[in-house]
Amino acid sequence: MCGIVGYIGEKQAAPILVEGLRKLEYRGYDSAGIAISGENVTVVKEKGRIDNLQAEIDKVYPVGTIGIGHTRWATHGIPDHINAHPHTSMNGIVTLVHNGIIENYIEIKNELKEKGYVFKSETDTEVIAQLFDNLFNGNPVETMINVASRVEGSYAVAMIVKGFSDRVFTMKKDNPMIIGKGNGENFIASDIPAILPYTKDCYIVKDNDFVELTKDGITVYGLDGKEKEIEINSISMSVDAAQKNGYDYFMEKEIYEQPKAFRDTVSPLIKDGRIVLPFEFPQGFTKKLNRIHIVACGSAYHVGMTAKYIIEDMARIPVIVDIASEFRYRNPILNENDLCIFVSQSGETADTLASLRESKARGAFTMSIVNVLYSTIARESNGVIYTNAGAEIAVATTKALMAQLGVCYVLAAFLAHEKGLMGDDILHQFTDEILAIPEKIERTLTTDDITKEISGYIKDRHSMFFIGRGIDYPLCLEGSLKLKEISYIHSEGYGAGELKHGTISLIENGTAVVAIATDDALLNKMISNIKEVRARGAFVIAVVKEGTKGIHEVADKVIYVPSASRYLMPSITVVPLQLLAYHTTVLKGFDVDKPRNLAKSVTVE
Ligand code: F6R
Repeated sequence: MCGIVGYIGEKQAAPILVEGLRKLEYRGYDSAGIAISGENVTVVKEKGRIDNLQAEIDKVYPVGTIGIGHTRWATHGIPDHINAHPHTSMNGIVTLVHNGIIENYIEIKNELKEKGYVFKSETDTEVIAQLFDNLFNGNPVETMINVASRVEGSYAVAMIVKGFSDRVFTMKKDNPMIIGKGNGENFIASDIPAILPYTKDCYIVKDNDFVELTKDGITVYGLDGKEKEIEINSISMSVDAAQKNGYDYFMEKEIYEQPKAFRDTVSPLIKDGRIVLPFEFPQGFTKKLNRIHIVACGSAYHVGMTAKYIIEDMARIPVIVDIASEFRYRNPILNENDLCIFVSQSGETADTLASLRESKARGAFTMSIVNVLYSTIARESNGVIYTNAGAEIAVATTKALMAQLGVCYVLAAFLAHEKGLMGDDILHQFTDEILAIPEKIERTLTTDDITKEISGYIKDRHSMFFIGRGIDYPLCLEGSLKLKEISYIHSEGYGAGELKHGTISLIENGTAVVAIATDDALLNKMISNIKEVRARGAFVIAVVKEGTKGIHEVADKVIYVPSASRYLMPSITVVPLQLLAYHTTVLKGFDVDKPRNLAKSVTVE
């Protein structure tokens, strides 16, 4: 949520900042701006997308080799020019950009107003700028530390300070920030793709680090004002990962990258038919494991729901799945025999991170399933399994979800084996089936044509339903979320048996219903449910395994997908649902990768 970039070196900063912002636009696209440091600071900012900012830059031509930039997802104040970042303090001491939320901003703002500070915007960000201005003692690092002791909430801030025109400063708490180390130049960014074209060497800024950057140096101070040793990591991600490579949209590219994302994630976890996790549970933990909590948001929550079906069935361990924003405030019952699993693509989702911290504090063993390397959730968990899906740029997740599912299959089998419920031979057989999934996902991608055809019908609907039972039910929620978030067609996912407890009253002539029926044991029940909605005029699109009998008679359209073990079907079934959402949105002419009001990484509550 909100993207920050910074550059300090010998090249013109503006083009580098704009390119960086384009790479981070998925973090927010309400407005964008840059500030270039020189004798004076030049601020250029504009409402809307980066292209609007570029048009302004083309008029102003800000010259300078040091600068900061921002792409905004509005929290405090409408998305207009005044609220766009950067913000400069009243006396011009500091110009800064911010990602996060300052919770006590009203209190500080009132104090500063009494001292005569005049505010131009409605943002909490301007409060940081004015506070810095007010506390400035001639030493930017000391002033940052003093600011940090006053503000509550989350922040990643990059700033240019008057009188220090050869430096850029940054501080952070609970929001991501990385420093890219170059040769005679250094970079700041909220996320890796922004610095990838220039360097692979980076420092992951920690909470309460106060960083001073020159073109040749990165100096990090702690809360005590003392200089800290830092470790530079080398990023393995390629520049390609953050490019469309001939596809029209990142979402399309990422859907097609799913066989690889799945393979790259599960392969390192499976060796000769056995499962090798990248961390160890405490001695004897899996034997006395009492309960599993899976905590996540949005699509990652749907992965958790899917995992519940699989883990409970295979390993007979009770699994409770929570939305992170609820879990963190519901006083969950946890103890040292509980395993808490946090699923997150970004590894920065505020509610998931807070839930992780809460669970750790209550003594549970925490593990996370995370895509972004070195992200906060990954770093703070007792154990982490990375999904090697590569950079996911489209706001709507696809390949990261696919990789998360892969980890869940492996984990379920690991726990079932540890508990003695799955022998070596069955485990070997199951891991072989997991390794065969990428080829099946590949084949499922051929549903592209039929989903495109069906999209032509869906695109004019005002409302849709996705119904399914058992392990298909979480996928109904996922298919529905994917469709509504990018195509803006209202949609609901329902357990097929639940529909007649109220919602069936919404079915009328022409209502589109996607019915997912991949579980043989539940097929007949699904056929009855399909008949019920069809009898009320629904247009039914069935998603079933190849060879399923009796479905053509009851559905208007049928999407056949390859067959796999019941537990692994979600990786297959989800593909046509993603394609339906994608094609429908393309036909409606919306920006698939950047749906309105959304941002990729939700770092505010
Ligand atoms: C939907 C989607 C979101 C995310 C959710 C969690 O397509 O992408 O629902 O799944 O915001 O984000 P992460 O996984 O980064 O914690």
